[in-house]
Order: sequence, then structure tokens, then C-alpha cells
Amino acid sequence: MSPFLLTRTLPADATDAALRADVRSGLTGHPKTLPPKWFYDAHGSDLFEDITRLAEYYPTRCEREILIARAGEIAAASGARTLVELGSGSSEKTRHLLDALPGLHTYVPVDVSESALTGAAEALLAERPGLSVHALVADFTHAIDLPDTPGPRLVVFLGGTVGNLLPGERAVFLRSVRERLAPGDSLLLGTDLVKDEATLVKAYDDAAGVTAAFNKNVLTVVNRELGADFPPEDFTHVALWDPEREWIEMRLRARRALTVKIRELDLVVQFEEGEDLRTEVSAKFREEGVRTELAAAGMRLDQWWTDEGGRFALSLATAD
Ligand code: SAH
Ligand code: AVI
Repeated sequence: MSPFLLTRTLPADATDAALRADVRSGLTGHPKTLPPKWFYDAHGSDLFEDITRLAEYYPTRCEREILIARAGEIAAASGARTLVELGSGSSEKTRHLLDALPGLHTYVPVDVSESALTGAAEALLAERPGLSVHALVADFTHAIDLPDTPGPRLVVFLGGTVGNLLPGERAVFLRSVRERLAPGDSLLLGTDLVKDEATLVKAYDDAAGVTAAFNKNVLTVVNRELGADFPPEDFTHVALWDPEREWIEMRLRARRALTVKIRELDLVVQFEEGEDLRTEVSAKFREEGVRTELAAAGMRLDQWWTDEGGRFALSLATAD
């Protein structure tokens, strides 16, 4: 058998229908919003990788530090034979886990970005020709048909991507993860932690403007896929810390009054000067909050590890 299999769980027209529905409801609502999963076409996935290398963007470095320090413990506690990774992107940090799991049978990266999945698999297999990879192009907020591979399974969700879900979506998502955990399976969850506002805002508004380009890429995606005429240069990238909800919000602010046509939806959207389109929330967490959210979904927090600086955390959880 080939060591690399890629399954598209969603036909292209289903992705298209999801984008149409999200754009129509998000741009006709108040305030205007778009879900962050549409950032990640091939260019958006590359821009995210550039973000991970920025001096200001600490989460990737901090999470890697924890993974390097704890991979042995995670491997011993999980005994995983199947490693399922949600929102796997480049799988760059995952190699620390793959290398620590002696009995690993199959790695199952799951992502909406096909280019990220193929790029990741190519890089991993170049170094580990014996690794079996079954990649799934899928939306992790929907039911996913996992391949029939041996347990125990370790489900990993890194990068703090869980914070890109709104609280209600997060509760539904964590419950769906719990429902997939058989006895002996575990969840490894990466969460960025609450910290001072200046550090947070800088991480989402870097000096080189890479995050601004990533943010505006969602307009390019909608222009290309739905025949819209958003002028990206007429929007300013905004990153705001909301101290009550403890999340960063990324927005695109119209520099002037604009009329945008979305041809494929037969929709015209007006922006007032200074009006914001919210493109992402990135929630930051505290240990008690993570414990409570996991418990509400039927899981127990067994281990909580942070980097030396206490900026990011990895949680290991099992079904209650
Ligand atoms: N885990 C990697 C990548 C994080 S970027 C890291 O820690 O560096 C977030 C990833 O999640 C992207 O690759 C994006 O394509 C994917 N993603 C975002 N929303 C998704 C969804 N609803 N379903 C599946 N993948 C999603
Ligand atoms: C993928 N996710 C965890 C990133 C974050 O930090 O919320 C996406 C991102 N947005 C701006 N920079 C990075």
C-alpha cells in the first residue's frame, strides 16, 4: 500500500455551497463577519506559515517548546497507534510527536487546505519513508469519517486553533471530539493563554504586515471564488483585544464608503466609511476555563503543561 492516501470528504461543490452560505449570512448580518476557515487557500496557508516565523508571533515557538519537552510523556500516556490531527496545516510541530510514538500505525492529518495537506505529507514522507499518512480534506466542525485504523487514538488540535471558534461553536466542537473518543483514546489540545495586551496585539499586527496580508487574503478568496469586487487596498487591518471576552478580534475596516458586488450571489453589500468586517476571533485561555470547557464536554483534564514563559499551554485530556 502507498504510504500516502488523500481522501476528499467534501465534494468541491459542497465547499462552494458552504462558502456561499457563509458569505451571504456574514455580509448581510450586523456586524458583518466572515468565518476564519476561508483564509486558508494555498496562498493563505503559506501566509500563515510566514506568520509562524515572525518575531511577534510567539504561539508557535512556545507550543513547539512544550512539545519538545513533553513528547515522551504524551507518547507514554497515550500509547497512540493512530495520531489524528485537526487543522494540521504544515504538520511542522507534529513531527516531535510522530518521532516519539514508537507504535504509531497511521498519521491522519485533517484540514480544509488541500495544499497544506499535500505539502505536509511530502515533507514528512521525505524524512520518514515508512510513515503511513492518510490525509483528509475535511471541515473539523462537521462529522468526519475517520479511517479504520488501530487504536488507541490520540487526537491533537494544536496552534490554539480551538480559540478561533466562538464559545458556542467550541462547546459543540468539544462535545463532538468527546463522542469520537473510545476508551483509551486521548485529546491533546493547544491553547494560547491570556497575557498583557501589548504582547497580544503585536502578535496579530506585526511590523512587516504579514498578518495584514493574511487577513486581507479572505477578500481575495471571495473575489476569486464568488466573482466579488472587494478592493483589498481600501481596507485596513485591525487587531483589537477584548478584555471582557478575552479574545483578539481581527477586522477589516473600510477606509471609505464602498459598494461591493458579489456576482455569484447576486448580492450588493454597502460599507460605510470606518465600518468593520470581523474576520477572526482568537480566544485566549486560563487553566480553569479549559478545565471547565473540557468537563462540560465530558472530558477530564489529566495534564496541563506550559512553556517556561507561561504563554501557551498544552492539555492532555481523556473521556470522563
Ligand atoms: N496546526 C497548525 C496550523 C494552524 S493554522 C499549527 O499549529 O501551526 C489553522 C489550520 O486549520 C489551517 O491549516 C487551516 O486550513 C485549518 N482549518 C481552519 N478551519 C478549519 C476547519 N473548519 N476545518 C478543517 N481545517 C480548518
Ligand atoms: C490558526 N490560529 C490559531 C491563528 C491564531 O493565532 O488565532 C490564526 C492567526 N490569525 C492571525 N495570526 C494567526
